[in-house]
Amino acid sequence: MDCIYLDNAATSWPKPREVITAMKDYQENLGASPGRSGHRLAIEAGRTVLDARIALAELFNAPSPLDIIFTKNATEALNISTLGLLRAGDHVITSSMEHNSIMRPLRFLETRGVEVTVARCSPEGELDPEDIRPLIKNNTRAIYLTHASNVSGTIMPVERAGAIAREHGILFCVDAAQTAGAIPIDVERMNIDLLAFTGHKSLFGPSGTGGLYLRKGLDREIDPLIMGGTGSRSEFEDQPDFMPDKFESGTPNTIGIAGLLAGVRFVMGSGIEAIEERERGLAFSFIQGISSFEGVTVYGPAAAVKRIPVVSFNINGMSPSDAALFFDEKYNIMTRPGLHCAPSAHRTMGTFPIGTNRMSFGFFNSDADVRTAIEAVGELHDYKNQ
Ligand code: ALA
Repeated sequence: MDCIYLDNAATSWPKPREVITAMKDYQENLGASPGRSGHRLAIEAGRTVLDARIALAELFNAPSPLDIIFTKNATEALNISTLGLLRAGDHVITSSMEHNSIMRPLRFLETRGVEVTVARCSPEGELDPEDIRPLIKNNTRAIYLTHASNVSGTIMPVERAGAIAREHGILFCVDAAQTAGAIPIDVERMNIDLLAFTGHKSLFGPSGTGGLYLRKGLDREIDPLIMGGTGSRSEFEDQPDFMPDKFESGTPNTIGIAGLLAGVRFVMGSGIEAIEERERGLAFSFIQGISSFEGVTVYGPAAAVKRIPVVSFNINGMSPSDAALFFDEKYNIMTRPGLHCAPSAHRTMGTFPIGTNRMSFGFFNSDADVRTAIEAVGELHDYKNQ
């Protein structure tokens, strides 16, 4: 399709050719279910899944591929990290920039006796990690923090928050939906105990893929949300208690994992720092271009290094939905307006309930895409100022 796709924070598009080829190849030549049956196609499918675990463990510097569980998205991974882990009487800390994939399970758990404290961020979406310290209590079990906001693009101080969590013996869970594949993640250096990631954004896999890294031994403290056949220990009616089978019941999304493996290899082959630099450059040129228009408000931190290539803005009080329709119909630009499933982030930024326009740049966008996007915002701004 001939369009300018600036909705990479929702899902990346287009995907690298290698991803499409890997999925086609799996479906045409393999097709079998991994970890079940004993025939060579099933063994080969199992190898694909293991290779994906190995590649992801390498990308995140996880000690073992068996520390990685596959899920259908980051939301499922975060639900395991909350519903599976927390018990009545636990206290947790999170930030006011979180997506509903963390807020909703936590609000549900509040009705079951879990206490939730939300650390307030600045209107730019920034969190001072030292603000976490006074919120810690004797029963604080975990800190849940997004690695970068899907609304303001703000990169959170994950490493410093992880150090505080470690100092106090608290678990640290990071939502890497917007960052896995886009900026470097090292679970060891960042003291991350649980890392929820999606496959279909910056890892370039298809939708329906994602996963969770669990620090070794932590699996024993977490209940699975789904139980059933795993292809292992089939003589027992009890769920396996070992990784990753404990959390991976049912036939997996093998075609998706084959695509995800190709996506992770694409990221590693391109170099994550190179991807980061390229995307940051695109977003920064866009921000510079639209900041000169009077009445256009750009949200998030001013410094390019403090943000991922997700840019939220408003034009003179114009409804973001109307603007998105204009971008689509007149300029062929795909964007996401509104609240981006993150009402708390919008409250923090002062953009609730109208929300913002959001243009999110990806590796396959060009400088020409950025110029057209600036022109489109400029035209709307002129119209609003007439
Ligand atoms: N959370 C994704 C987004 O921001 C879906 O669009």
